[in-house]
Amino acid sequence: MENNGSVQRESWGSKIGFIFAAAGSAIGLGNIWRFPYLAGENGGAAFIFVYLLAVLFIGLSVMLAEFAIGRAGGLDAIGSFKKLAPGTPWWITGALGVFSAFVILSFYGVVGGWTIAYTFKSVSTPLTNLTMESFVNFITNPLQPILWQVVFMALTIIIVILGIQGGIEKWSKVLMPVIFIILLLLIIRGVTLPGSSAGLKFLLNPDFSKINGSVILSALGQAFFSLSLGMGTMITYGSYLSKKENLPSSALTVASLDTLIAILAGFAIFPALFAVGMDPAGGAGLVFATLPSVFDKMPLGALFAAIFFILLCFAALTSSISILECVVAYLKDQLGWSRKNAAIVVGTLITLIGVACSLSNGLWSDFTIVFPGKGALNLMDFLGALTDFLLSVGGLLICLFVAYVWKFNKANAEVTNNGQFTGVWVPIWNFIVKIVAPIVIGFVILNGLGIIG
Ligand code: PFF
Repeated sequence: MENNGSVQRESWGSKIGFIFAAAGSAIGLGNIWRFPYLAGENGGAAFIFVYLLAVLFIGLSVMLAEFAIGRAGGLDAIGSFKKLAPGTPWWITGALGVFSAFVILSFYGVVGGWTIAYTFKSVSTPLTNLTMESFVNFITNPLQPILWQVVFMALTIIIVILGIQGGIEKWSKVLMPVIFIILLLLIIRGVTLPGSSAGLKFLLNPDFSKINGSVILSALGQAFFSLSLGMGTMITYGSYLSKKENLPSSALTVASLDTLIAILAGFAIFPALFAVGMDPAGGAGLVFATLPSVFDKMPLGALFAAIFFILLCFAALTSSISILECVVAYLKDQLGWSRKNAAIVVGTLITLIGVACSLSNGLWSDFTIVFPGKGALNLMDFLGALTDFLLSVGGLLICLFVAYVWKFNKANAEVTNNGQFTGVWVPIWNFIVKIVAPIVIGFVILNGLGIIG
């Protein structure tokens, strides 16, 4: 197929291919690394309970809104807004998304590189040596993490060059089931260790007194990041969908798979963690510094550790390709670039920003930037904080756009395929997009900036 959007625009080869690709975008470091670590810090089951509500009541609706905008517009994130609201400044929402892609992928690529490095380290280094100290030594090294980051970004660029059906769809179809199987293996390994039941209790017995404003806010922020919302990724992926596809059922499937994998990651990590008597609130070091010592106490530990980090790398890769695709689709659709040139130029630029990110953990750690509500941060943490902010603003604008600019007579026709798939969920979706989501997301933004506490 000609890879130039102006000739014949690409599309998904099958419904299942789209579901795997969208789920692949959603499922990433956010599920397997960040979700368990936030759950660990925020009371386990109580956090999970609030997270599920956030996905159900906000995330799912924003995802459906993004699919609808993308399919109705039939273009990249910026082009779709221009098509649906010509002559208005709403395309800025898409532009903000393209900007967010640069921000997210520059640090995401660094962590992606760590996952490849740790795959090799878990077989080449005794697991007892993979401590917090060795993790810090590794990420502060001026060269090593950058080399791995370049490898990770090169893989991302290659898959995006291969295109929608040949690259993204094909790889997601292979990698997603592999991830599922590996997680199941890890769960079986973890729950059969003596002492693992405390971890199951931690995941299943909510202590509702632990729920407070900050738990609710981190659950909602995590829902956005994990579901790949607010950036135009799901608008872009929706634009490759056929008019026949059932959008609400696709959104439900993708959100459910994403949530399932996050929960499975919790079950893969906490029972094993409790079995070896470690602290569930281990924070950012949970995966890279704490888990190797958990694996060390298992038979065949090095093998399981390597499998785990390959899994993390695969999950990160199917997400990073969706982030790069968001920018590539814009350059292709709006500026007529070829897919190959767009992927190489943008991928290289993002890799260079990522190099600065990586160096900000060591050599350049003295250079800090103040983020409102968060204080002085190194470049990597700054971009992380900026991500939460940008995705929330993007999500808010998407809801406002659908409710007040595009309007529900057209949006509802798109999400129901002109009334073909309708039901009581339609007015509920409208109410959420118009009232509930803007208020809740607005609260998250103001809180994130430290304006309200
Ligand atoms: N959802 C991905 C994760 O959970 O790791 C990260 C992500 C991908 C965020 C794509 C935003 C995005 F547009």
